[in-house]
Amino acid sequence: MKNAILSHLPASHPWRGNIHHFDTIDSTNSEAKRMAAMGAPYGTVVIADSQTGGRGRLGRTFYSPAGNGVYLSVVLRPNLRPQQLMHLTCATAVAACNAVEIAVGIHPGIKWTNDLVVNCKKLGGILTELSIKADGFVDYIIIGIGINCGQKAEDFPPEIANIATSLSLYAGQSVDRGRLAAAIIDSVAHMAEVLENADAFLPQYRADCITLGQDISLLRGDEVRHGKALDVDKNGALIVQFADGRLETVTSGEVSVRGMYGYV
Ligand code: BTN
Repeated sequence: MKNAILSHLPASHPWRGNIHHFDTIDSTNSEAKRMAAMGAPYGTVVIADSQTGGRGRLGRTFYSPAGNGVYLSVVLRPNLRPQQLMHLTCATAVAACNAVEIAVGIHPGIKWTNDLVVNCKKLGGILTELSIKADGFVDYIIIGIGINCGQKAEDFPPEIANIATSLSLYAGQSVDRGRLAAAIIDSVAHMAEVLENADAFLPQYRADCITLGQDISLLRGDEVRHGKALDVDKNGALIVQFADGRLETVTSGEVSVRGMYGYV
């Protein structure tokens, strides 16, 4: 896998010498964090053929079977405060969509905030994590991207069989994971160069975000509220008009979109 990635990255790519490949690992985000805590530099890439504890947003697991996906994390060290990185997950989602388009010729949509979708099903996800220094600046951030590549419909476990899909299921052809991983690495490297500039990402995020304009439900704790998703603000938060007419800025909770992932 590592040689396949290197064969698709330019010889001059600054991150070439910092790619760490594992056959299996608990979570590439966790390994990248461990490496970052030991001083791993900006541009350190961790990639695995399988994860035994792939993690997603809201404490969920990310199903990561051997040889069927791209599971990749990158260490960045921007000299910024966390408040300047509110758009980080949106920027990463845009970078991931662009990479899929470059490598596979498919441009996924984004379900707010961090799901990549095709055909109303989940193709992959983003998990960004951040560590802060005592002076309030970022020590490191971990950009985690997982994309389902080769799964057939029957490969997904029952609990996600109705909501998950893969690139080869959608495209009807096999996918070169090395090429996709290289495209993700390159796309994240470009993102990192202009990371503090939310305007470099948010117009495309809004254009790709299939949640906008849709009827949604917001689940927080035991409470479910219904409304319409109107916009994504400069921090990547979702602006929702709820059924009682009130406009609110949503930054957390589970947002379901009518017609997707079995929500009717
Ligand atoms: C989600 O679905 O909420 C996000 C899923 C993110 C999965 C990727 S796979 C590579 C990296 N390592 C992890 O443990 N998670 C991310």
